[in-house]
Amino acid sequence: MTDQKTPRSLPLSEAITISAQAIGEVMAGRSLTEVLDQLDVHERPIVQSLTFDALRKWVRSQEFIEQFIPKAPPPEVEYLLCVAIALFLQNGVEGKGYAIHTIVDQAVKACSEYEPTMYAKGLVNAVLRKVSLAVQAENEKPYPPDPIPMFFPPWWRASLKRNYSKAWQAMLIQQAQRAPLILRVNAKQHTRQEYQDLLKQAGIASELISEIAGVALDSALLLREPVPVSDLPDFYSGAVSVQDAGAQIAAVLLDPKPGDRILDACAAPGGKTAHLLELAQCDMIALELDGERLGKIGGNLDRLRLHSNAVQVVRGDASKAAWWDGKPFDKILLDAPCSASGIVARHPDIPFLRREADIKALQQRQRAILEQAWKMLRPEGTLLYVTCSVFPEEGEEQAIWFSAEHADALRLSAPGQILPAELNDGFYYALFKKNGP
Ligand SMILES: C[S@@+](CC[C@H](N)C(=O)[O-])C[C@H]1O[C@@H](n2cnc3c(N)ncnc32)[C@H](O)[C@@H]1O
Repeated sequence: MTDQKTPRSLPLSEAITISAQAIGEVMAGRSLTEVLDQLDVHERPIVQSLTFDALRKWVRSQEFIEQFIPKAPPPEVEYLLCVAIALFLQNGVEGKGYAIHTIVDQAVKACSEYEPTMYAKGLVNAVLRKVSLAVQAENEKPYPPDPIPMFFPPWWRASLKRNYSKAWQAMLIQQAQRAPLILRVNAKQHTRQEYQDLLKQAGIASELISEIAGVALDSALLLREPVPVSDLPDFYSGAVSVQDAGAQIAAVLLDPKPGDRILDACAAPGGKTAHLLELAQCDMIALELDGERLGKIGGNLDRLRLHSNAVQVVRGDASKAAWWDGKPFDKILLDAPCSASGIVARHPDIPFLRREADIKALQQRQRAILEQAWKMLRPEGTLLYVTCSVFPEEGEEQAIWFSAEHADALRLSAPGQILPAELNDGFYYALFKKNGP
């Protein structure tokens, strides 16, 4: 998911109400992507923007609520306050956006959804007025009070501190920022230069991203001022996709050649499948376990005009062989299910949803898929193991375990752990070649 300019298509009060409800769903353990996917097209951009910012400023909002309300408010009022407080904080940071009185008025109006409304309205009005003054006073100080305004569970912070003693704070601060909009130009339709010219003609400024972690990229463009995808030239005819630059190196590292038989073992929603097909006309099986997510692969390939007889989208479990016809693959992309701890800037609900025990369980699932994938790779073939995680249990520990278990696995050069930075999310990459018999 990516941040777009806050479109004002829905009255702010309604957007605040829906956003507070979406936060309630996240707190009940639902993925925000699933919740947002159910909204109408005119609702989604503004609700997404409000909800992302509310989750990013969670710790600060909670501090204000505790400071100004002695007894914890009901959850629906708390979430509504978080959305409004994040708007103050965001305005403070950026110096633009909604006027303070508009935020207060609209948040009070949003209370009409709740009972007993008189109590909620009075409370929200009083608290937001106090918070707005406190935020203004804070902004006049030379340094913000808390460098990490976002919520990360204690076990998460402790793991990063242990594994990245110098970089951990910078990583968390980075992940609490709005993520930039990064595009991947479809090489089947345009060179990057051609598409950059099209953007320019449409009045959209872009910059090249030429490499990530030493891997050259010739498809990535950065838009510092994000725009809705509907404003991107030829988006609906497949000229371009939204994809983080750290994710774009996957297809480059796997290096597809025309006619290669490739398995994308964990493929939905198909971002990397599509990139591989943009680079070479290969024989592709895009495998996915989740039936609902499977549909998204077809949708993406349709838009990008990448369907052909050589591409099969298959529902199946990559840790089992039931779906496989026994024909070995030349190359396998294993973009494994993981904690997603590297892509928090684009999915700020992740720290609320993960539990510490998930990491070991995910490690076991990743190992089961790696084991099965290795059996399906031909001798001399290559397997790229990828996760969008910053926890070593899902990255380097897995590569070390795999090398120790498989004497026929030769480790080739790959970036290893990539930490979240301004232009890329956090990923882990390991590349293995299967030695001949
Ligand atoms: C990190 S996402 C893949 C993202 C995708 N490669 C892209 O670039 O758009 C991992 C995917 O693996 C799927 N998955 C999880 N376990 C699986 C399994 N055993 N076999 C196949 N797919 C699986 C998940 O449903 C999820 O869609």
